[in-house]
Amino acid sequence: MDKFIITGGRPLEGEAVISGSKNAAVAIIPAALLVEGWCRIENIPKIGDVEALIDILRKLGAEVYFEDDHTLYINSENLNSYKASYDMVKSLRASYYLLGALLARFGRAEVAFPGGCDFGHRPIDQHIKGFEALGAKVKIEHGIINMHADELVGTQIFLDIVSVGATINLMLAAVKAEGTTILENPAKEPHVVDVANFLNAMGADIKGAGTDEIKIRGVKSLKGEAVHSIIPDQIEAGTFMIAAAATKGDVVIRNVIPKHMEPLTAKLLEMNVDVTENGDWIRVKGNRHIVKANIKTLPYPGFPTDLHPPTTVLLCQADGTSTITEGVYDSRFQYVEELKRMGAEIKLEGRIAVIEGSRQLTGAPVKATDLRAGAALVIAGLTAKGITEIYDVKHIDRGYENFEEKLVNLGARIERVGSTRITSNGTVLAAKRMPPSSVV
Ligand code: EPU
Repeated sequence: MDKFIITGGRPLEGEAVISGSKNAAVAIIPAALLVEGWCRIENIPKIGDVEALIDILRKLGAEVYFEDDHTLYINSENLNSYKASYDMVKSLRASYYLLGALLARFGRAEVAFPGGCDFGHRPIDQHIKGFEALGAKVKIEHGIINMHADELVGTQIFLDIVSVGATINLMLAAVKAEGTTILENPAKEPHVVDVANFLNAMGADIKGAGTDEIKIRGVKSLKGEAVHSIIPDQIEAGTFMIAAAATKGDVVIRNVIPKHMEPLTAKLLEMNVDVTENGDWIRVKGNRHIVKANIKTLPYPGFPTDLHPPTTVLLCQADGTSTITEGVYDSRFQYVEELKRMGAEIKLEGRIAVIEGSRQLTGAPVKATDLRAGAALVIAGLTAKGITEIYDVKHIDRGYENFEEKLVNLGARIERVGSTRITSNGTVLAAKRMPPSSVV
């Protein structure tokens, strides 16, 4: 397994270009199964989760190919299966979108429970409640969610919890239902709106995505030949903004929608970080003096939970004690123990991390326990004195395109190294550097 080796202490300087949104792409790719025809999706991020989904689509009978690095064609005309086994879906959370897409396409779906980052309990009861309300019979047996519906019929669905996954899944299931579906208390994340725009480009009739009520008028069929460009990744952009601030750097972050970044921008300004924006870029200049802050993560337009771990790293430098309250997940604190190895002083009180400031982190071997925890540790390594080794970077590769190359372009000293493997007869296989372009 690959690891990163980071020599800390250099401010990030220059320009970073943000890729397409992971969480939009992983919903839009399964959404392409709804149409018996092809569609063209631009600004696709080249990340592990996208590769995993493409693999699943091919196994289901779809034709999928890249026209260039970031443009994907999907032709679902000859889709021939509504089944996705545990082996197919275990690596990613977004496999749950196969449920809504296959149910709408075939009137049935058999999909194993999803994998993805481990934040403790991550139920999908709201998805299932919605599918049932639309008329699906749902049975869970041997780890497989088995659904079928003779007919899906639009109805009013109130989500008890604001859920990105349930909102998008129910949009997918409802686009071809008979009549109108109204989703109350939906998630309003930018990627929810992007998925609705993609579905509308295929002939769906969805109104209100991004507001408190989404109205989906069912259509008889969708049409092929839709072309859609995915929005920039809000969380990747936020990660680079925080990295610029934490390393006291000066970075222009391009291909962003500044409006989507407002929950983070507001907090960075409060922490005495300079943030300026214009059109599709944001410039972040770090200051020596970081002001402490209290933050609570919430569904959009609240502060994003996915930026919680990176923000903790920045607050380790603040001028006093800060807090981050996790308002979305029960448990998203596995990264804390890793940061403590690097000298962070963080206490956990239930869902609140209490972060002591004015800490100079020091390099140490640490483990990326999940995607955003991994990104946080990279930022920590960039600010630390000495060398940080980050293991399990496969988690980071799931969601960040060319992360280390983008950082190297900003002056970071980060290197990817293939780990040493010991075979069953005890032979040590040589450590492998990959790719050479990322070595400074
Ligand atoms: N929840 C339920 N029941 C449900 C669904 C959700 O109780 O049926 C709870 C969850 O346990 C959680 C909260 O509701 O406490 C919000 O979960 P949500 O459904 O919104 O999250 P998700 O769809 O599983 C997506 C992103 C996550 C991101 C969250 C919140 C994808 C593939 N994943 O997850 O992204 O953290 O929304 O914004 O879109 C990441 O990118 O690193 C990542 C984890």
